[in-house]
Amino acid sequence: MKTSDYDIKDISLAGMGRQRIEWASREMPVVKLIRERFEKEKPFKGIRISACLHVTTETANLALTLKDGGADLVLCASNPLSTQDDVAAALVEYEIPTNAIKAENEDTYYQHIVTALNSQPNLTVDDGADLVTTLHTKRKDLIKNVLGGTEETTTGVTRLRSFAKAKQLKYPIIAVNDAKTKYLFDNRYGTGQSTIDGITRATNILWAGKKVVVCGYGWCGHGLAMRAKGLGSQVIVVEVDPVRALEAAMDGFQVLPLKMAAKIGDIFITVTGDKNVIDIQHISILKDGAILANSGHFNVEINIPALENLSKSKRNIRGYVDEYKLKDGRRIFLLGEGRLINLAAAEGHPASVMDMSFANQALSLEYIVKNYRNLENEVYPVPEYIDNNVALLKLHSMKITIDKLTREQKKYLTSWQEGT
Ligand SMILES: NC(=O)c1ccc[n+]([C@@H]2O[C@H](COP(=O)([O-])OP(=O)(O)OC[C@H]3O[C@@H](n4cnc5c(N)ncnc54)[C@H](O)[C@@H]3O)[C@@H](O)[C@H]2O)c1
Repeated sequence: MKTSDYDIKDISLAGMGRQRIEWASREMPVVKLIRERFEKEKPFKGIRISACLHVTTETANLALTLKDGGADLVLCASNPLSTQDDVAAALVEYEIPTNAIKAENEDTYYQHIVTALNSQPNLTVDDGADLVTTLHTKRKDLIKNVLGGTEETTTGVTRLRSFAKAKQLKYPIIAVNDAKTKYLFDNRYGTGQSTIDGITRATNILWAGKKVVVCGYGWCGHGLAMRAKGLGSQVIVVEVDPVRALEAAMDGFQVLPLKMAAKIGDIFITVTGDKNVIDIQHISILKDGAILANSGHFNVEINIPALENLSKSKRNIRGYVDEYKLKDGRRIFLLGEGRLINLAAAEGHPASVMDMSFANQALSLEYIVKNYRNLENEVYPVPEYIDNNVALLKLHSMKITIDKLTREQKKYLTSWQEGT
């Protein structure tokens, strides 16, 4: 693909994008180390990569790392509302064809994915599995070129596992999301902090004293509930999984069914990866002035069509805040059109956590290039040595050293003879 093949908002934003990409790189020492090695070793020489990721400053640092490793890279957005237009412009200046415009409609979003696929990739990098599913449905002819791919998020991994189970997946995928150095930090601390950031930027609300309902106590929910509690909110957790509900209760949160929480909550945040979590029966009993936001991957967690049906009018009251006036007079505020609020209204995760997620991405892609002949058309975990290495490098960058097992301890921990 020619570097002139791109579709972005405004190339004149490139200067600002470059500065912000540089700023993020300060917090990405692990990716920097990998980039320096890739520059010398060129593991992606002759390899074409199509990447469908949130177009943020951190993604730009990953893209530059892959490019310096010899890859021919094309980028598109993994969400219509998550693109940072200045970053997209800077990427084009860095000669990475980028197809992404913040607030693009769904047709343009999919057109951009198809454009990214037109480069005939050997590797795919996905966040949510829209690129992989488009490749498998609309551009099956290109699958023969693909050695493998990676998937960044929980929802994408869930989709791809279903795909593999149905024997439809035609090449191996590494589930980057499932690396410990990804979900324990990115999903928990990254989503926790950036979701609060997005809602704060959109609304400027005071969190202290608010009743915050967190739907889903997975890794994202853990981080979000913890951060909202730290800001003085009274956090209520809604779950369907008994173990996670129990964990939330013992972490000190009130656990309620959504039908009860709906009557008392001030702010509702969905992070489940599920559909219609906040549904018509809940919207019908929300308090006047309730705020609804989502930080799960797709904009299906809040039943927006039901909200629209219950409403007599809708107006945009400030950036990323739509006021729905219901027929019974109550007002409900929906943030960021129900799309992931941390990327729609803020800048997404801090670079320091993306450092680990994208180190896993870069190293997993290198692993595929070296090992694709031994991989089946399945969803694989990130190899453990990569995960552990990312943790060690991150600790090193934080100037933290840890102890090592002694020979005696290693022996003890792998034997059964010694007891009371
Ligand atoms: N905003 C971001 O930047 C960002 C970052 C990482 C992940 N994500 C997305 O966030 C979502 C959650 O990710 P995760 O890693 O926390 O997943 P997870 O699987 O660890 O947790 C999801 C939780 O939601 C619960 N759940 C499912 N349906 C529910 C329902 N109807 N009501 C209440 N709870 C329900 C599940 O039982 C589970 O405990 C996914 O869509 C993921 O792709 C977003």
